[in-house]
Amino acid sequence: MNKKTVILGVTGGIAAYKSLDIVSRLRKKDINVHVIMTESATKFVAPLSFQALSQNYVVTEMFGEPKSFDIEHISLAEKADLFVIAPASANIIGKLANGIADDMLSTTVMATKAPVLLAPAMNTNMYSNPILQRNIEALKSYGYFFLDPDEGRLACGTTGKGKLADTENIVDFIDMLLYEKKDLINKKVLVTAGPTREDIDPVRYISNRSSGKMGYAIARAARNRGAEVTLISGPSNLKPPVGVNFIKIYSGSDMYNEVMKYYDSTDIVIKSAAVADYRPETIETSKIKKNNEGLNLKLVKNQDILYELGRLKKSQLLIGFAAETNNLDEYASNKLKNKNLDMLVANDVTMEKSGFDSDTNTVKIFFRNGEMVQLPNMTKEEAAYIILDYALKIKR
Ligand code: PMT
Repeated sequence: MNKKTVILGVTGGIAAYKSLDIVSRLRKKDINVHVIMTESATKFVAPLSFQALSQNYVVTEMFGEPKSFDIEHISLAEKADLFVIAPASANIIGKLANGIADDMLSTTVMATKAPVLLAPAMNTNMYSNPILQRNIEALKSYGYFFLDPDEGRLACGTTGKGKLADTENIVDFIDMLLYEKKDLINKKVLVTAGPTREDIDPVRYISNRSSGKMGYAIARAARNRGAEVTLISGPSNLKPPVGVNFIKIYSGSDMYNEVMKYYDSTDIVIKSAAVADYRPETIETSKIKKNNEGLNLKLVKNQDILYELGRLKKSQLLIGFAAETNNLDEYASNKLKNKNLDMLVANDVTMEKSGFDSDTNTVKIFFRNGEMVQLPNMTKEEAAYIILDYALKIKR
């Protein structure tokens, strides 16, 4: 991919300092950042801080000394792969919605053909003001993207909606908008991720070491490629990708119920979750007391969700995972057949830098026609894109 350029507009508000983190995160991804600050933004944060982080001159004035021979607002507008305004004040939203271009930021946005993302931040009453909401709707109707503010305690002392969206989420949204290959548009993708927990009593459960990293990476890659994604996840510490329909579940039977709700209307299912095969036959209502004897726990089988999906399959593309410790080829091929899958992604979870909780994975992909592809060790993000590439090549 060519190096991308983001123009970041910063408007006046206490959240302006948070935009420094956006610049820093984008630079770490090797994205060029040019910052335009409104005059009031400069009252909150010094332009020098943005300049140091972006390593580009920060534009603050319409009629300041130009730093190059270009007409500055036109040249920035043309340079942009994406325009982001964070925080976006009620003032800039109002100006853009009504065609007012009276400073460097509003003029440059008006002149750009790049997509524009706004992340509003303001007092909660200002945010709910119907005039502002009308302006937001107007901009949405012109194709502007918005990332809603979070709820919480605001700098003005009130509590409500108006906090700038989490900067990690803003950068996640930027990643999606910058990703060019949109080959999953109009496709509904269902991804399962993470472990399940099967309660023994109110304080104990059976689970496994899945972190959710593999499944979240697949959900994010599918979203970046334009799919409408539902991510059904067991307990995980990860932040769900922005813009996906995120459903948090606890046990294997919760996962079964949620998956079944979506299955009929889904085009591609990718089951990377590590679902418990067994659950305690009964869940004790109070904590099991220890005694001097051992403890026998009777386990019963959990429903095999993937098997059930294979049985009910109509036009869906069904992709399973297999976590193996030995005989990987044999077990993986059997799972592919027995569960009526179109593709299976197997990983040997005893390998270094692979499997549970690792940032990287080494996977082998099995197909119905008996072919298999061994991928080298790579980040789970890279693996996710390749898994989707192979899924899209399957002819049925
Ligand atoms: O989450 P991470 O820390 O990133 O780790 C990633 C991973 C190791 C969990 C992932 O790469 C992986 O291998 N996922 C599948 C784990 C698993 O449960 O494998 P399995 O071989 O036991 O199950 C085979 C398939 O049947 C899986 O698609 C599983 O989701 C599904 N299954 C299993 C049991 C069950 N009751 N219902 C199911 O649907």
